[in-house]
Amino acid sequence: MALVDGKVALVTAGASGIGRAAARLFAKEGARVCISDIDRAAGEAVVADIAAQGGDAIFVGADIRKEADIIAMVRATVEHFGGLDIAFNNAGLPGHYTDLLNCGADEWNSVVTLNMQGVWLCMKHEIPEMLKRGGGAICNNASRAGDSASAELFAYTATKHAIIGMTRSAAIDLSERNIRVNAILPGPTLTGQLEDCADGNANDLSAIAAVMPMGRLARVDEQAQAAVWLCSDRASYIQGVALCVDGGLSALV
Ligand SMILES: NC(=O)c1ccc[n+]([C@@H]2O[C@H](COP(=O)([O-])OP(=O)(O)OC[C@H]3O[C@@H](n4cnc5c(N)ncnc54)[C@H](O)[C@@H]3O)[C@@H](O)[C@H]2O)c1
Repeated sequence: MALVDGKVALVTAGASGIGRAAARLFAKEGARVCISDIDRAAGEAVVADIAAQGGDAIFVGADIRKEADIIAMVRATVEHFGGLDIAFNNAGLPGHYTDLLNCGADEWNSVVTLNMQGVWLCMKHEIPEMLKRGGGAICNNASRAGDSASAELFAYTATKHAIIGMTRSAAIDLSERNIRVNAILPGPTLTGQLEDCADGNANDLSAIAAVMPMGRLARVDEQAQAAVWLCSDRASYIQGVALCVDGGLSALV
């Protein structure tokens, strides 16, 4: 039996990186998938890829900084597939390298609006649809930065801590209504975002990999496996956890 057979899953920022890997895995494990992103061409390519593998997916353009887009994204999913069971709230960007003293209001607002407000508003509009189905499961994508300090990524670190707080609060709030809310905390994972952080410099990526206990970066499919499992019935008694998927990095500190 596939992990999420017959479920309807929504993945934000599903056009690349961890989101794309998760969208593909949700489909492989039997879900019908709505992929949303601001990059329509890349999102449509993921849909085509899933269809070629015999899966069922649609793309909906949505800028997760905008509540109207989030409402439209959830509505489009429900109208197309008849409901919503699972959401992987994955959209988030690191912003620029700025510490507390140098972080300006524009930088702060930009990172908070996408990473933190986006997760809140996604849950706010997804949960009522899940309640109509009698329950559901949510995985929010935080980061190891949600549970450790990073002086240079001040705003990003604040938002990722907030995602863990929102995840726990939502889990407690919704436990009796059969909705599970968990988070993954990826360690450094080879995606465009990490390459941008490392400025495309292969030496920087090698340096990050070298300090990892397992001596390598995570693959996107390793993050996707954790997200899909948390949203599946196999994780039926897992509630409000912040699951490190970091190759042992958190065990070091
Ligand atoms: N890659 C890592 O090392 C790492 C580590 C920890 C946490 N994360 C988290 O994983 C998540 C995904 O990151 P990734 O590395 O896979 O990124 P990525 O760069 O591969 O993909 C980011 C996606 O987000 C989309 N996007 C950008 N702005 C958007 C917006 N306003 N609304 C909707 N979509 C938007 C982009 O079009 C792109 O498809 C993020 O929340 C990130 O913080 C990543």
